[in-house]
Amino acid sequence: MFSKLFGKKKDSAEGTQHPEVPVTHVVEVKWDNWSPAGPNDVRSPCPAINSLANHNILPHSGKGITKAMAVEALTKSFNIDPKIANVFAASGIIANPNHDAHSFDLNHVNKHNYIEHDGSLSRGDAAFGDGVKFDQEAFDMVLKVYREAHPGKSDDEIMTDWGTAAHARWARITASKEEHEKEEKTWIYGIKEAIMSYGETSLCLNLLGKDGVAPLQWVKIFFEQERIPYAEGWRPPTKFDQADLNHGYAEMMKGGELGVEEAKLVGIGTLVGLKAAILGLGASFIKTPSSES
Ligand code: HEM
Repeated sequence: MFSKLFGKKKDSAEGTQHPEVPVTHVVEVKWDNWSPAGPNDVRSPCPAINSLANHNILPHSGKGITKAMAVEALTKSFNIDPKIANVFAASGIIANPNHDAHSFDLNHVNKHNYIEHDGSLSRGDAAFGDGVKFDQEAFDMVLKVYREAHPGKSDDEIMTDWGTAAHARWARITASKEEHEKEEKTWIYGIKEAIMSYGETSLCLNLLGKDGVAPLQWVKIFFEQERIPYAEGWRPPTKFDQADLNHGYAEMMKGGELGVEEAKLVGIGTLVGLKAAILGLGASFIKTPSSES
């Protein structure tokens, strides 16, 4: 999806071989090997790749990540389809401002309106500060939607589901829009951002749950600590591919009321159009393995 949306990385000298960045990091999945980022480590707006760095599955420094390293880390740790892992890893390399580089640092992907966009679940918007740092105020809006859907339950008792996740997403998008309007800032949210945003929620609940159902506590650990809740009982999905991501999109758009609003917002007009755009672009994963990167 990312390479479809943003184009291939331009090789500055087409046809010439670039020496690969020496691989000094061995991808090893040991979930108990976790520590937060230190002062010289870099991180991204993505809780998943930050977690992998915190677990030392990606380099803890967050630096010098080759495509092969990212693919190996994503497939070994999350059991994600290699085709998807390849596209994600390529999107990281493309984000490196040095277009000759064959690796990236996690902070390179904090590039506004590339993958990073307004209305994130756990980050503030670029116009108001830092897209990398976890933002409790933003994430509290997500938690509020889950808590209101489960009156009388404590966070320990709440399980996620696709419908509530769709409402939580929408709460962040509308809050982001209102804040930009109030402060008279330009708000960019079109079909590309909608695809990213649906994609991220689908990724999150496919990673942490089964058919969108995960303990809310695991979601909190993932976003707030950037840790995979292995100690709490999480295990990698047995299957994590494009069909699973598409299932998440379809479930979130079920009922249609939020989709209709969003279709208008992104200028695509109808729910049918929005669904076609999200599912159509999503499906391009299947046809675009590493050859597109
Ligand atoms: C090399 C691989 C990846 C790269 C380069 C990457 C990059 C990004 C970026 C730049 C964002 C910020 C979007 C925003 O503004 O909200 C993001 C968000 C996100 N990513 Fe990733 N990502 C990768 C892999 C993954 C994987 C494998 C998962 C889950 C299985 C994932 C889950 C998420 C989630 C849930 C968010 C939303 C964060 C939020 O809204 O606060 N990412 N990713």
